[in-house]
Amino acid sequence: MIKKHRKVLLVGDGAVGSSFAFSLLQNCGIDELVIVDLQKEHAEGDSLDLEDLTPMMMPARIRTGEYSDAADADIVVLTAGVPRKPGETRLDLVNKNTKILESIVTPVVESGFNGVFVVSANPVDILTALTQHISGFPKNRVIGTGTSLDSARLQVALGKELDVSTSDVDAYVLGEHGDSSFAAYNEATVNGQPLLSLPNIDRDRLAQIEEDVKKKGGAIISRKGATFYGVAVSLMKICRAILLDENLVMPISAPVNGQYGLEDGYIGTPAVINGGGIRQVIEVSLTDEETEKMQESARKMNEVLLAAE
Ligand code: LAC
Repeated sequence: MIKKHRKVLLVGDGAVGSSFAFSLLQNCGIDELVIVDLQKEHAEGDSLDLEDLTPMMMPARIRTGEYSDAADADIVVLTAGVPRKPGETRLDLVNKNTKILESIVTPVVESGFNGVFVVSANPVDILTALTQHISGFPKNRVIGTGTSLDSARLQVALGKELDVSTSDVDAYVLGEHGDSSFAAYNEATVNGQPLLSLPNIDRDRLAQIEEDVKKKGGAIISRKGATFYGVAVSLMKICRAILLDENLVMPISAPVNGQYGLEDGYIGTPAVINGGGIRQVIEVSLTDEETEKMQESARKMNEVLLAAE
């Protein structure tokens, strides 16, 4: 079902939220965007700035609001949180951001919101699991950006390395959006050919690329203080798949239920997204070694989740 009055509530109008809004308004044909941020005046300014693009792209109403405006929204996007400081890991952020999350998710649910939560605040897999837990929503209606950004970064790096278009590269980063993620090279293809069967493929270079991809967020943060365009477009694509009922396959943070030998929790894996949220989690058929990496990544996140205050 394609939604009639398409409404998105954005919580957090920092660099990620604002870049997401910019992309959403140009690509999704929404009717209404409500922005909630503690810095109200900034959010008002952003709404006024963003509405100026609508006559040139797609008409939409944009305003600032409250959590109660979630009542009839299709999607609530959560970007609010303390961002990662240089040198800090995403997992360091968990306690800080859990508190912020509780103060948002509870009033959103109390508004009667009955749509899909989409989370990008870090550590994203953990905060997505906590959003599901706090909201009590069905797991398929809580989605995190997961390893969509890492997978895009891998495509960029392999495209450069092999001198092909990024759209010719089909490769996933799986696991935590963070240090314990891994590049699923055994399943990666370039123009439909298995990556590892390409002539002259250099395994050491691939290992280096995997490391660089993992460190790319940090490399951007150390230069410009934050990363936002990639994750903003990932959020937009997830929202569009929901709003237009697309059945889009993309790597996200999704709830596992037996896949990869994991019983519970959210982790980066491809899944099918449509109007109801996550229609299906796709279990990539991994090698034993990769399955072990997936399980190790889940274990690392679980430890943090259990240690969370
Ligand atoms: C990134 C951070 C911000 O990977 O999670 O860009």
